[in-house]
Amino acid sequence: MTGKEAAARKAVGYVEHGMTLGLGTGSTATFAIQALSERLLLEKLKITGVPTSRRSRDLALSLGIPLTDFANVTRLDLTIDGADEVDANLNLIKGGGGALVQEKIVAAASDRLLIICDESKVKPQLGEFPLPVAVIPFGWQSTHLQLTSLCETATLRVNLDNTPYLTDDHLYILDLHCNPIIDPAHFEKTLRQIPGVAQVGLFCGMTSRLIIGFEDGTVEERS
Ligand code: 5RP
Repeated sequence: MTGKEAAARKAVGYVEHGMTLGLGTGSTATFAIQALSERLLLEKLKITGVPTSRRSRDLALSLGIPLTDFANVTRLDLTIDGADEVDANLNLIKGGGGALVQEKIVAAASDRLLIICDESKVKPQLGEFPLPVAVIPFGWQSTHLQLTSLCETATLRVNLDNTPYLTDDHLYILDLHCNPIIDPAHFEKTLRQIPGVAQVGLFCGMTSRLIIGFEDGTVEERS
């Protein structure tokens, strides 16, 4: 078992009958969605999932997990999602998989956010992983210029054919190299003041519990 799978399986243990559940995106969240489908089958557990991306929606549907649209939901009981980096205060960098916009909307509407990862994601400070920033395609060059004054470099995320990568919400992503990020909450506010910025992959003060999985199948939990 990998550390990611160990963390995911532990997190799915927190799911209770009747919950409305945010389903994260990425390889760790995939383990959680798979473990959830097993519990649904074995225990006849009834939950309603709210996916954070087309990828997670397709996976959940293929595994028979009942889903609802975010439009039908006011609050979620719990969201289980991965992260690209976690610091000592449980602040996160997310969006490596490009789903940061929906992930943040769903996380903000959740009573609890469970973050699952392996030990490689835990860092004393954020910033080694490039910070994803979702930007509006119109005038992205101007947004890029303003962002580059706040970091070392900002790289437009592209597909294999060099066309701009588009999120599920039809946004571009600029990956910012700014290492270390000294004050993540303040930096997030600064970035969001730029008009073309739609969302920032910094999730500050949102994590209720962090579950770190190890290769030997053990986990460590932090709140
Ligand atoms: C997707 C995310 C993911 O949670 C993050 O990239 C971690 O991915 P993985 O679990 O594959 O390491 O934020 O937008």
